[in-house]
Amino acid sequence: MASEYILRVENLHKKFGEREVLHGISFNVRKGDTKVFIGPSGTGKSTLLRCINQLTVPDSGQVWLDDDEITGCGQKISTFRQRIGMVFQNFNLFDHLTALQNVEIAPIKVLKMKPAEAGKKAMEELCRVGMQDWADHYPAELSGGQAQRVSIARALAMDPEVILFDEPTSALDPELTREVLEVMKELARGGMTMLVVTHEMGFARSVATEVIFMEGGEIVEQGPPGEILANPKHMRTREFIGKISDQ
Ligand SMILES: Nc1ncnc2c1ncn2[C@@H]1O[C@H](COP(=O)(O)OP(=O)(O)O)[C@@H](O)[C@H]1O
Ligand SMILES: [Mg+2]
Repeated sequence: MASEYILRVENLHKKFGEREVLHGISFNVRKGDTKVFIGPSGTGKSTLLRCINQLTVPDSGQVWLDDDEITGCGQKISTFRQRIGMVFQNFNLFDHLTALQNVEIAPIKVLKMKPAEAGKKAMEELCRVGMQDWADHYPAELSGGQAQRVSIARALAMDPEVILFDEPTSALDPELTREVLEVMKELARGGMTMLVVTHEMGFARSVATEVIFMEGGEIVEQGPPGEILANPKHMRTREFIGKISDQ
């Protein structure tokens, strides 16, 4: 029977050397959810996202996409990575390719789409993020906000079931942050399933279905943004939210 959740994370543990960075993380994601992860630097947020698509291999625990287990799937991991998009803080675009080429390359190479079809798809995704006029430009000619919008288009071009965003705006100044968050809000409102590590509380308030506060490799508290941000139960959550709200 199909699970009611599109993604399930069960009791993930990860050590780097002697240091345990994830202490048993579990949560479930429904189709169309936007989960926002907050927490101090070094808390394991990036490691958690990386464990979901096995860029980092967890020591124990399971990750399921629909009815398929990702953890321990061996060679099949490339199929899962097609189904789970990822957007990084530093864009990770290919410098020698134009915006359009950056977006169409995975559909051509991985999905074996015909170049004309991939080009059309890439242009549609560039339109979706408002970058259609910049299709022939190289990353060096784009602002950070524009580059990040291209990298979102690149993720969308694979028609992912879930997109993971790891601090997508933390390298950007406020104006550019805003244009990227607008694109992300549109995606969230359009029903995309998204896991987002960010400290942009306006974004969390307007589109998150749930905010998850992590500290020291654990989930301390989770709930709707109205509850977690306005009325956190745990002292540690309260202190952290106080700090980011003062900025
Ligand atoms: N590949 C790695 N090797 C060793 N230690 C790592 C590695 N990746 C992350 N860490 C450590 O794991 C901890 C959690 O890191 P990270 O997941 O990046 O936290 P966050 O994203 O919350 O800032 C940090 O102490 C970091 O130094
Ligand atoms: Mg991080």
